[in-house]
Amino acid sequence: MQKMLIEGGHLLNGSVRVSGAKNSAVALIPASILADSEVTIEGLPEISDVHTLGDLLEEIGGTVSWDGQTVNIDPENMIAMPLPNGKVKKLRASYYFMGAMLGKFNKAVIGLPGGCYLGPRPIDQHIKGFEALGAEVTNEQGAIYLRAKELKGARIYLDVVSVGATINIMLAAVKAKGKTVIENAAKEPEIIDVATLLTNMGAKIKGVGTDVIRIEGVPSLHGCRHTIIPDRIEAGTYVIAAAAQGEEVIVDNVISQHLESLLAKLREMGVSIEESDESLLIKPNNPLKSVDIKTLVYPGFPTDLQQPFTSLLTKAVNTGVITDTIYSARLKHIDELRRMNAIIKVEGGSAIVSGPVQLEGARVKASDLRAGASLIVAGLMANGVTEITGLEHIDRGYENIEEKLNNLGANIWREEMTEQEIAQFQNS
Ligand code: EPU
Repeated sequence: MQKMLIEGGHLLNGSVRVSGAKNSAVALIPASILADSEVTIEGLPEISDVHTLGDLLEEIGGTVSWDGQTVNIDPENMIAMPLPNGKVKKLRASYYFMGAMLGKFNKAVIGLPGGCYLGPRPIDQHIKGFEALGAEVTNEQGAIYLRAKELKGARIYLDVVSVGATINIMLAAVKAKGKTVIENAAKEPEIIDVATLLTNMGAKIKGVGTDVIRIEGVPSLHGCRHTIIPDRIEAGTYVIAAAAQGEEVIVDNVISQHLESLLAKLREMGVSIEESDESLLIKPNNPLKSVDIKTLVYPGFPTDLQQPFTSLLTKAVNTGVITDTIYSARLKHIDELRRMNAIIKVEGGSAIVSGPVQLEGARVKASDLRAGASLIVAGLMANGVTEITGLEHIDRGYENIEEKLNNLGANIWREEMTEQEIAQFQNS
């Protein structure tokens, strides 16, 4: 088991290239199940979640070959193999196997998904959608069993705006008989990316990017070639790191419209941001002013950037209030930031960050993926060395993060943990 060490205080300069979007990748890979011939996806991020999903496709009989960031998936020999245990439990997005396998085989058995613990993360809206399309859904010993004689299009109103439910229902509906309408659908760019892949495979989908998606079922889908969109959350993480510890940083391979809410908040804080075709030039103007943020569904401020943004606020003058309306319990990074000298109170579910403070290096634990990103941003700003454990979370979602930051001038490395450190980590 390894830990990450960050010697703080180095200024960031230069350019960093953003990888393909994790939250698209984890849906695009299962979506390939629906095709009858080879699907090629280009620009995938090299992160552990992507490889886990590739392994799962092989478990159900797919032929998966990798060429760097490109994957070729031949679904011809896939079967409706039950996946009640094992790798499905490693990540939350394995729930997309439910929609894709139901859509292809009219049945699926998928272990309840794992992933980051951010408080309760129900999948009732996914199930509501599958049932509306004609599936019988049961939960048996920690696995979801889905069975349908035939899937038929339906009108489905989501009670909660959900990225996962919107994508999963699209996957199940593209081959269902007749018309499906998803109302109160989520509008995240990753949903548009998945719909683009499905459309290239021959699906008939209208309205993605609005809150009403209309799908006309087709009898079969064919292979295609698809290039993934850039990861707006990875991009946002580097933009925040640049605002925290940069002089002049270019974040390359971004669609800046995907980051409007973050960029607006940073400009309010006094950060200078120049947008060009596919990149952003970030120049912080110290001192930074505090702002309040409230996370909302897209295009609002993303919950996935709330945690790294908390670290940045420790540097800003005055108090900033952070309220996460998507995951109210996504606050596990706060105790760790306090160990680093941050002054943060939690009141009524909001985090109140007082600044500016000089963060100090400490031993901290990444309890989930974006908590890890938050601690890395904090480590870049801190005096001395910060030691971060829980790297398996960070590696699930950030490709080569230390290499990318070191190329900007950071000093980050990994070391093996001693047996005593592993024992302490496991008991904490
Ligand atoms: N919700 C329900 N019932 C459902 C589904 C969702 O009540 O059936 C609630 C959730 O509890 C949450 C809200 O609806 O309060 C939104 O959840 P959503 O379904 O949109 O989240 P998700 O699809 O499970 C994806 C990303 C998350 C990201 C959220 C919100 C993937 C694989 N994950 O999760 O990403 O935080 O959307 O934008 O796409 C991350 O990347 O670190 C991450 C956690």
